[in-house]
Amino acid sequence: MRGTVLELRPAALAHNARRARALADGARVLAMVKANGYGHGLGLAARAMANQVDGLGVALLEEAQALRHLGLAHPLLVAEGFFDADELRLAARLHAEVVVHSPWQVDLLAANPAPLNVWLKVNTGMNRLGMAPDLARAQAARLRGVPGVKLLGVMNHFSCADLHDDPHSDAQLAMAGALARELGVALTAANSAALIRYPEARADRVRPGIMLYGSSPFAWRSAAELDLRVTERFRARLIAINPIQAGDSVGYGATWRADGPGRIGVVAVGYGDGYPRHAPSGTPLAVNGQRTRLVGRVSMDMLTVDLNGIDARVGDEVELWGDVIPVDEVAAACGTISYELFCQVTARPVRVIAE
Ligand SMILES: Cc1ncc(COP(=O)(O)O)c(C=O)c1O
Repeated sequence: MRGTVLELRPAALAHNARRARALADGARVLAMVKANGYGHGLGLAARAMANQVDGLGVALLEEAQALRHLGLAHPLLVAEGFFDADELRLAARLHAEVVVHSPWQVDLLAANPAPLNVWLKVNTGMNRLGMAPDLARAQAARLRGVPGVKLLGVMNHFSCADLHDDPHSDAQLAMAGALARELGVALTAANSAALIRYPEARADRVRPGIMLYGSSPFAWRSAAELDLRVTERFRARLIAINPIQAGDSVGYGATWRADGPGRIGVVAVGYGDGYPRHAPSGTPLAVNGQRTRLVGRVSMDMLTVDLNGIDARVGDEVELWGDVIPVDEVAAACGTISYELFCQVTARPVRVIAE
């Protein structure tokens, strides 16, 4: 066996969901499980957290359908809503709550009335999905005229709640809150960063994602400091150990050269498994629990590590991220975020459920 494994921890997911519940302080908690449970597996993530949360959030209707097929009867929020009339009818059959973000969706609903619970997405400064307050107000009135449609609330998404110097969230919350009050409906505003940081943003429902997967939304506070547990450990094995001389290069493009004699470990994991190809030399990993670094370019099936000063033999374990090397540290070294690392692990590594 190659030994390239994605270890998944349902108990850690449940713990992190309990953390979210405690922070929510009475607001309903909707666990975001979109994009295959942030790469952890839709069913695994949803089932692990099902007892700790009040609902589940997905981006697409297919994801909502998959959750219903898995037997999950929770309230479901579909963040991108429906794309056509068939989907609109499917949403009604699945009893999924849908986000309406654009007037064309209201047109579609008006032409195809269905018993649907709707959240109206207001654009408060993210300038991605959602309608400006005036437009949202007008569309709310139209929605209320569609037979079967119930306007549950207003939805906001923060653009900068994870930034140390956050320039937007106060104004975003004020704008969304004012609209919800005016329309006399509920408000959902907070992602993980806002849930942890802004008690005033809890409103009626919170929508944490990344914190549930054991990653910190903040560059300046670790997941451990936030009492979040590791939910995913990516590991592989050393399949060769080779001597190297000063001046020798390693890997495609000869991007790294040894400045003295040493040993290079070859690890059976590459971008074909979802380890990022753009990880630079120096990215941390752990061999037998000892921290060391990636050297040279990541290839499809392999990567190479510096074994100088490391006690290691062929067959030994290498942690790409998990307990010794926090995923957030790997993400920072790669100039990305844990979300992307989680989502990019391919189907190739063997999934192992661990406690
Ligand atoms: C609409 C919506 N709500 C909540 C979240 C959860 O955000 P986070 O994973 O940063 O907690 C996301 C994720 O991007 C989202 O798109």
